[in-house]
Amino acid sequence: MLLNTLEKWMMNSPARLATQRWMDVRLFKRHCRGLQGRKALEMGIGRGRGMGLILEHFGPRAVDGFDLDPDMVVKAAHYLKNKKGQVWVGDACHMPVKTASYSAVFDFGIIHHIPNWQQALAETARVLEPGGRFFSFEMLSGFIDHPLSRALLDHPQQERFDHAAYCLALQQEGFRLIEHSHLGQVCGWYVAERQQDDNG
Ligand SMILES: C[S@@+](CC[C@H](N)C(=O)[O-])C[C@H]1O[C@@H](n2cnc3c(N)ncnc32)[C@H](O)[C@@H]1O
Repeated sequence: MLLNTLEKWMMNSPARLATQRWMDVRLFKRHCRGLQGRKALEMGIGRGRGMGLILEHFGPRAVDGFDLDPDMVVKAAHYLKNKKGQVWVGDACHMPVKTASYSAVFDFGIIHHIPNWQQALAETARVLEPGGRFFSFEMLSGFIDHPLSRALLDHPQQERFDHAAYCLALQQEGFRLIEHSHLGQVCGWYVAERQQDDNG
């Protein structure tokens, strides 16, 4: 689901970049062995600053990214024009990439915007190589259900997840949880590893 005007303004503000840099990236870096020579993907890239942080802090050979909002993708493409990787308009539920293409996938707060969020997790598991890691920052049901959030922001309202439901869904998609922390049922940070397939 696309952002409304208020949330888009918030996501494109310096405050958002600061929280991404000082909270999300710091927490994720504790559980990243380094991505030198490898490829990463960011889903829901917004204006592309997350992709810049991934290149700066995790050192992959390239980072690709996509967003449902064409306007965001134009902004990201402009910001990233001299950097390594591709951007496209796309949906996290149907990624046009081969199975096991990436060593890491990053989600800076987009899964809760997706009505069929379980499908996005299944796609994430598909595009990650076995042993690859999923770094996810998410807003939980306590935030989505809050009257202020309902009044000011647009989110899908059906079947939203709390911390336990998100951890369970990750495990059901074949992830092993490496680390998770959460602020009540407001938001949470998750690092999960794609397990080897049963047949090796
Ligand atoms: C809360 S914003 C976060 C943007 C950026 N990751 C950041 O942290 O600043 C959520 C983003 O996800 C995008 N989005 C929503 N549903 C999506 C989907 N199904 N597939 C890809 N992107 C989606 C929105 O257009 C928006 O740019």
